[in-house]
Amino acid sequence: MGKMAAAVGSVATLAAEPGEDAFRKLFRFYRQSRPGSADLGAVIDFSAAHTARGTGPDARKVIRSQLSVSSVSDHDAHRAGLQPVSKWQAYGLQGYPGFIFIPNPFLPGYQWHWVKQCLKLYSQKPNVCNLDKHMTKEETQDLWEQSKEFLRSWPTAYTKESRFTPGRGPLLPIEKYSADHYTPFPSDLAFLSEQVAAACGFQGFRAEAGILNYYRLDSTLGIHVDRSELDHSKPLLSFSFGQSAIFLLGGLKRDEAPTAMFMHSGDIMVMSGFSRLLNHAVPRVLPSSQGEGLPCCLETPLPAVLPRDSVVEPCSEEDWQVCTSYLKTARVNMTVRQVLAIDQDFPSEPTEEKKRDITTEGFCHLDDENSQVKRAKLNPDS
Ligand code: OGA
Ligand code: MN
Repeated sequence: MGKMAAAVGSVATLAAEPGEDAFRKLFRFYRQSRPGSADLGAVIDFSAAHTARGTGPDARKVIRSQLSVSSVSDHDAHRAGLQPVSKWQAYGLQGYPGFIFIPNPFLPGYQWHWVKQCLKLYSQKPNVCNLDKHMTKEETQDLWEQSKEFLRSWPTAYTKESRFTPGRGPLLPIEKYSADHYTPFPSDLAFLSEQVAAACGFQGFRAEAGILNYYRLDSTLGIHVDRSELDHSKPLLSFSFGQSAIFLLGGLKRDEAPTAMFMHSGDIMVMSGFSRLLNHAVPRVLPSSQGEGLPCCLETPLPAVLPRDSVVEPCSEEDWQVCTSYLKTARVNMTVRQVLAIDQDFPSEPTEEKKRDITTEGFCHLDDENSQVKRAKLNPDS
């Protein structure tokens, strides 16, 4: 207990130094943090929020958040692999209006489908991958088939960061969404996203771009704001699978000290309103507490019988073996974004002015702190 107080104290000291980049300091603190130690004492755990666990002063910021239960039928939730919305817990954080955290609302077993899609389907051509810059077409052609031989190597066999983007997504954050450059947005992921957005009060959300991030245990995602979308009044949805990680949610400026929280497998985060343009980062992916184990919510298999009109499809034992061996030491994150307002069109090319904005503002700092997350992106069909 004394030890924990000391560590919480050291986090507070780090954040309190004036004139410094408090976010950067905490990023470094958590990047080096030791799992299972007092280092993580101040990290909010929303999965335990109802039992008032979470010891640091930030735990007091946790509030309940209302969902729009009637906006999603139990059947549509089931089709997407989700529990009825009436059973979800949703939380917010004082000081972060528009931020919603939903601890794993998936039905037992159904995360399998989404994990498999991330690894097997969404990563395929023609979706763009940042590995494309470092590898030949043949090498990136079918990462899944290649990786099956080595099982856990996918896509960690490559030393450069990887990020796939189905949908009309900029592969790297400094790239702009473009009408000339897109791939179809996966219909199953669009359906899942629409249900989650509707449950959070955003009816009519359109999934137009997605980014998948593949983390090894030593990967980080640097401090950044997701500003590329043209309509910031629409929420950004984030889904986590596999090993747990620490998420830092900061302020509008980089020097504001962030709030730290755990992201576990199945957890969903929504950044909307005021919180849509806040700085955030992933400084640490945590190894499984049982050596190289899967989170227990991934141990239940996908039910053999699915709703007739389910967007979730059966997952073969062989495919699941590949996913399992990978996820024992990895985390996968998918973010889904609506890019345009209702009447807007994708621009053909970034204008000179926008290009200048990006460089002067330093919009995204993915390379900060030697960020090595592997990212991929998705695009829409309309
Ligand atoms: C992103 C992002 C967070 C995560 O892709 O822009 O912030 O949890 N991802 O991986
Ligand atoms: Mn982001």
